[in-house]
Amino acid sequence: MSARQLMKVFVTRRLPQEGMKLLQKADMCDVLVWDSDEPVPREELLKKVEGAHGLLCLLSDRIDAEVLDAAGPNLKVISTMSVGFDHLAIDEIKKRGIRVGYTPDVLTDATAELTVALLLATARRLPEGIQEVKSGGWSSWKPLWLCGYGLSGSTVGVIGLGRIGLAIARRLKPFGVKRLLYSGRQAKPQAQEVDGEHVPLDTLLCESDFVVVSCSLTPETQELCNKSFFTKMKSTAVFINTSRGAVVNQDDLLQALTGGQIAAAGLDVTMPEPLPTDHPLLRLNNCVVLPHIGSATFSTRGIMAQLSANNLLSGLTGDAMPSELKL
Ligand code: NDP
Ligand code: DGY
Repeated sequence: MSARQLMKVFVTRRLPQEGMKLLQKADMCDVLVWDSDEPVPREELLKKVEGAHGLLCLLSDRIDAEVLDAAGPNLKVISTMSVGFDHLAIDEIKKRGIRVGYTPDVLTDATAELTVALLLATARRLPEGIQEVKSGGWSSWKPLWLCGYGLSGSTVGVIGLGRIGLAIARRLKPFGVKRLLYSGRQAKPQAQEVDGEHVPLDTLLCESDFVVVSCSLTPETQELCNKSFFTKMKSTAVFINTSRGAVVNQDDLLQALTGGQIAAAGLDVTMPEPLPTDHPLLRLNNCVVLPHIGSATFSTRGIMAQLSANNLLSGLTGDAMPSELKL
C-alpha cells in the first residue's frame, strides 16, 4: 500500500504501550499521536483531526459537531478509551454514520474495587485519621474519636445496577450488608445474585445507610443528586459517587455536608475535573475527593488501551469491533 492510500488516525493522548504497539504495527494507517500525558488543547484537536479516518480519544476530549466538522467526511470511526461516552455527541455521530468503540467490562472490577475502597475510606474516616497521625493530633485512644459508620447490618442503595453497580454490590455483600436496594429504569434479573430489591429512588434514599451512584450520565441523570435528593437521605448516611461529576449538583452537596443533612461523601468524579484546589468541598473533613482513578490499575489501563486500539482498527477495516457501542 502506498503512503497516499494510508488511512489517517489521530490519537489524542500518549497511550499505554499495549495500545501504542498495536497502532504502530498496523500497516493500513498513518498514526498521529498527541504525544503528551496532558490533554490536547482544543485548537490543536481541531487542526490535527482534519481529514482523519479514525479518532482515538479519551473521556476528557469533548467530541462534538465542531470536532466532527473539523474532521470532515473521511471520519468513519471514533474509539474512546472509556466505558462512559457522555463526552461524545452521539446524535451528531449517528447522523454522520460514524461507528463508535468503547471499553465496557474490562474496567468493571477495578472500578468496583476503587468504589469499595472509597466507601470504606469515607465511612471510616481514613484520610482524617492519617492526617491526625502526621500532624500530632493523635493524643491517645479515645472512645468516640474518629468514629464512623460500618457496613455490617447496613442497607446499601445502588443507583444504577449496571456492570459496575452489580460488581460493587457483589463486593459489598460479604461485609455483612443486610439489605441491598437499587434504583433504575427497570428491575434486573441479575440483581438476584446479590438479593437486590428494585425500589423507587425515594425509597432507596430514605432507607439506605450508604448511597452509591454508579449510573451513566444522561440528560435524565444530570444533577439527579440535588437538594431534594440529599434532603431525603438519612443524616447518618454516606454518599459515594464514582459515575460522573455532573450527576451531582455540587452546591447542593456542599450544603448537605455542611448542614448535617448527610454524614459524609466520597467522590471519584467531580465537576469540573480537576476540581480547583480552592473548592469549598476540599475544605471539609467529611468529604473525600479522588482524582477520577476508578479504573487506574496498570493492567486495566493496558487492557483498555489495547481494546480501544483494536476497536479503532476493526472500525477502519469495516470489521466487527470487539466492543462497539450500539447507536
Ligand atoms: P452500564 O451501562 O452497565 O450501567 C449504567 C447503569 O446506569 C445502567 O444499569 C442503567 O440502568 C443505569 N441508569 C441509567 N439511567 C438511570 C437512572 N435514571 N437511574 C438509575 N440508573 C440509571 O455501565 P457501567 O456500569 O459499565 O458504567 C457506568 C458508568 O460508570 C459509566 O457510564 C461511567 O460514567 C462510570 N465510570 C466511572 C469510572 C471511574 O473511573 N470513576 C470508571 C468506569 C466507569 P437502567 O438501564 O436499568 O436504567
Ligand atoms: C470510564 O471509562 O468511563 C472511566 O470514567 C474511566 O475509566
